Amino acid sequence: MTAVSALGNVSEVDSASRAQAAANPLRVGLTSQPAAPGHTLVIFGGSGDLAARKLIPALYNLKRNALLPASLAVVGLGRRPMDHRSYRARQREAARQFSRTGQPDPELWNDFEQGLYYVRGDFSATSGYATLKRELRQIEARHGTGGNRIFYLATQPSLFPEIIRLLGETGLNRGPGSTRIVIEKPFGRDLTTAHHLNALTNNVFHESQIYRIDHYLGKETVQNVLVLRFANIIFEPVWNRRYIDAVQITVAESVGVEGRGVYYEESGALRDMVQNHLMQLLAVVAMEPPVDFQADSIRDEKVKVLRALRRLQPHQVAANVVRAAYGQGFVEGVEVPAYRREEGVALDSKTETYVAARLFVDNWRWKGVPFYLRSGKRLPKRATEIAIQFSAVPHLLFGEANPEGVRPNVLAMRIQPDEGVSITIEAKQPGLAMRVQPVRMDFGYGQSFAQESPDAYERLLLDVMLGDQTLFIRRDETEAAWMAVMPILEAWENGRAPDLAAYESGRWGPRPAGDLLRADGFRWRRL
Ligand code: BG6
Repeated sequence: MTAVSALGNVSEVDSASRAQAAANPLRVGLTSQPAAPGHTLVIFGGSGDLAARKLIPALYNLKRNALLPASLAVVGLGRRPMDHRSYRARQREAARQFSRTGQPDPELWNDFEQGLYYVRGDFSATSGYATLKRELRQIEARHGTGGNRIFYLATQPSLFPEIIRLLGETGLNRGPGSTRIVIEKPFGRDLTTAHHLNALTNNVFHESQIYRIDHYLGKETVQNVLVLRFANIIFEPVWNRRYIDAVQITVAESVGVEGRGVYYEESGALRDMVQNHLMQLLAVVAMEPPVDFQADSIRDEKVKVLRALRRLQPHQVAANVVRAAYGQGFVEGVEVPAYRREEGVALDSKTETYVAARLFVDNWRWKGVPFYLRSGKRLPKRATEIAIQFSAVPHLLFGEANPEGVRPNVLAMRIQPDEGVSITIEAKQPGLAMRVQPVRMDFGYGQSFAQESPDAYERLLLDVMLGDQTLFIRRDETEAAWMAVMPILEAWENGRAPDLAAYESGRWGPRPAGDLLRADGFRWRRL
């Protein structure tokens, strides 16, 4: 990652944290980062789920690895009545529950929570912002943050436009130091709303201040796709339509909607996963080598891939995209209800919890290579994988001993869990015959590195403080991704696609998803 900070006022990381981190045998691999300058991080939705499950634990773990500036203050904003003390106690409990490192170290947490504040207000009205300004002035003076501010939008998405508008109207878009805004997904509901949100945000903030987050880009293994492709000579010559027959991208989850039924009803798998996470995975796999590792060079290449995605015609959607919702079933031995029985979900819901699609990237490198994407909830297990299926050898020398032929090579990049990369190659079976059998060469993160991987939010929050936009989505990228999924959304809304299929919870999706590949002579990989 480039560490581009235009700020200069780099403050010191406190020595207690440094000592603690040095003594930690499982230091995360972010420790070679330059120190981030002081900041106040203001979280809209500070008493919500994302703050408790992801943001605060990520900040605490950064602290644990001595990666936070000493002068950091975190201000949670919300409507619920709460004082600083009870906010701190709640977040401590959340850290215990959700942090990858478990129970926080008491001394370190005490130090961390000195910079944790809660401000109650109505942030759909200017009055809330007057209170915030007042509090910010005091907190900034107390912590010596240099007036650098990050506004993190972690509320329900329908509130984003109003918050952004009011930040502009009250002058909070121009602070005494640097000002940045982080916007959570989903970024709009469709191309039009994403475009409006972009227009509004770019009116209030400069693009260099805007960090549209997709936490998949913060995952170590997603960044490793770039390293694998561009730090090794052996892949690039075969990374194209001449040697690759198909690409499969799977994001499988065993969980259901997890109490987020109301949100999910509005969203569905296409908006929740495909438009963002799967499109980003596709973009890093298919992009051209960037000229350097600067944010815009990488984003330029990703956007070209998204623009090259073939736009399905309305009549092609049914043959290329499958949608389904989970029914009742068993996942990991536990009986689970059907999606329509989940809290907040309509009994006659038409929302999909599973999508499978066949897409094409129409450019010189990829023309004609199918990209099969699937994502679903309540599948048998959690597994995210990108698999490259290479072509068969042009002429088989060992035909007699192998009448059924040999299997093509597969490069599988396991994004999570069991992070790693494997290549299936053909090998000679021991014995006198020339029998050929597939074997796997495997690299596992857990075995090869003694370091723990940071959580995606640790990487990304640190990058915002460092001013590095490499792993964030640029305006044109988000709109290009929407353009690719719009024909699907439109066909579904206009009834130009078969009705929602059903799949039993704990099974690998509906039958038509398998047919999609069978028709081309492929099968979904067994994960
Ligand atoms: C979120 C989606 O963006 O990603 C969730 O809103 C999904 O529905 C989650 O469960 C998956 O993230 P991860 O990191 O657990 O794969």
